[in-house]
Amino acid sequence: MTSHTITIRAGHPDFLDLEWDRSIVEWSTDRIVDLPKGISRHEVRFVVYPEGTYVIKELPLRAARRDYTVLRELEGTGVKAVLPVGLVEDRSDDPNDERSAALITRYADFSFSYRELLEGPGFGPRRKQMLDAFAWLLVELHLIGCFWGDCSLSNVLYRYDADAIETIMVDAETAELHDELSDGRRLEDLQIMIENVAGGMADIASLQGFDIDDADFELGDDVAARYLALWTEVNQELVIPRDERFRIRERIERLNDLGVTVDEVELIPVGEEQRMKVHIKIGVRDFHARELEELTGVRALEQQARYILGDLHYFQALQKPDTDRVISAMKWRVQEFRPMMQRLRGATKTADPVQAYCDILHHRYILSSLAGHDVGTQAAVEDWFAAGEPGYPLDASPT
Ligand SMILES: Nc1ncnc2c1ncn2[C@@H]1O[C@H](COP(=O)(O)OP(=O)(O)O)[C@@H](O)[C@H]1O
Ligand SMILES: [Mg+2]
Repeated sequence: MTSHTITIRAGHPDFLDLEWDRSIVEWSTDRIVDLPKGISRHEVRFVVYPEGTYVIKELPLRAARRDYTVLRELEGTGVKAVLPVGLVEDRSDDPNDERSAALITRYADFSFSYRELLEGPGFGPRRKQMLDAFAWLLVELHLIGCFWGDCSLSNVLYRYDADAIETIMVDAETAELHDELSDGRRLEDLQIMIENVAGGMADIASLQGFDIDDADFELGDDVAARYLALWTEVNQELVIPRDERFRIRERIERLNDLGVTVDEVELIPVGEEQRMKVHIKIGVRDFHARELEELTGVRALEQQARYILGDLHYFQALQKPDTDRVISAMKWRVQEFRPMMQRLRGATKTADPVQAYCDILHHRYILSSLAGHDVGTQAAVEDWFAAGEPGYPLDASPT
């Protein structure tokens, strides 16, 4: 008989009803649900509690501790990663035993594995979205000094975010957080990513019975190219004459357009001339999500928020000209957003009602431009359901 210790964070079930002395593959509790998942080295199972769905991964002690610690450190940095909830240690006397520990994380709602994005041997029309989202995740991790060490298609979860895809880090067993990452370490991480992604694409081709020559071996290199472009944009150094401060504003706006929030602007005088070096400290990529939450209390992903803010502005434009902005934002929430969430929750193919709302906003735009006048949200909703809930066209960009 072995013993074990359980550490669980407040606000979650205590998981004491689970049979920790046995391997999770042997569990037969009716809390277990089968959900799709990516390729994994360790055993992973999903359990449902009234508090929500959780994921349990069985793995050697050291790996489990590292995974748990890094995921905890990532909290509050703004980088999207799964939420660590607990750690079960010393389940067997041998710490190298594959089941000597277990990591509990919160199931990332509305997420799916890359397998659900595949079309044929590759990502088809979603390739660019994948590439952008993947590259961003690595840029964000590197900006906060996190070396991943195992960036792969399976170690990322995906979620629809309006016409984009959001990526969430799921496996931090090999990750390390430092104050800063050297260029060498960043490139090492990129190299690992390129190899893992190429391997993943080869696997997909063979699993699905496609010729290996049809595998998308370029994907990893293309992600790396996008990463390098973004890294340069975000870290670009700006030196300006003292009377060209508007250039700071321009740069901040360019970054905001990429969804990046600027945390701090530091101005450092350079040389004898009246010049200044502008050092910009980047925050997380939640500029629109933050604005939406501040204005309305509504929480959404970054691109979803961008579209929903458009809807709010459209609503505000139809109010009497002297209506207070805060009041009209509240009215929008009560009259437009909340009833729509009530109607959409559980009623659509897309599990995420906020994503369904974004699809409807896009549909409203298409119908209105065809009709040459605003058709209104109600008519758009009815037509959207009747048309089989169309999503965003893949090449759509926010207007
Ligand atoms: N918190 C979570 N939410 C949703 N899915 C998860 C979560 N944790 C793990 N998964 C699923 O399980 C798979 C394997 O998890 P991972 O941590 O990568 O295990 P391994 O160490 O075995 O590679 C992931 O690809 C993902 O599909
Ligand atoms: Mg993994």
